Amino acid sequence: MITDQNTLRRELRAKFPRNHGQLLPALHFLQREFGYLPDWGMEVVGWHLGIPASEVYGAATSYTELRIEDPGDTVVRVCTALSCLVQGSADILSALEEELAPDPTDSRFTLEETACGFLCGTAPAIEINGRWYGRLDAQSAVELVRNSTHD
Ligand code: FES
Repeated sequence: MITDQNTLRRELRAKFPRNHGQLLPALHFLQREFGYLPDWGMEVVGWHLGIPASEVYGAATSYTELRIEDPGDTVVRVCTALSCLVQGSADILSALEEELAPDPTDSRFTLEETACGFLCGTAPAIEINGRWYGRLDAQSAVELVRNSTHD
């Protein structure tokens, strides 16, 4: 478990050669460890790879699969690729925005759109904390998200 800069430095040294091409793999590793990219972790990645912090931050904010803010306890991702869109994912997204938005200071949820999850046969599909669910409508998606917070 990585708890500080020294531990992260050791992990990076063991896993990633010190070259520019390792930036994205190292950022993905960091996100797997923490669920997002903490500032101090990006600094250590930059130091290890010899890349300026501005470039590390630029990469971290350029890729939609990377996030620089703590996502909270529940990450809900709605597929908005073609099959899901045709089957009503826009309605699901609107319903979840309405459901999750009443308190903007509530940091328990992160709601995102996502590209195809390759479950097109069960469209529309959403992902909650890494687990996919399909054949939903707006109401069942809202209930699913509500219930997922009580696990
Ligand atoms: S289009 Fe949504 S899972 Fe493929």
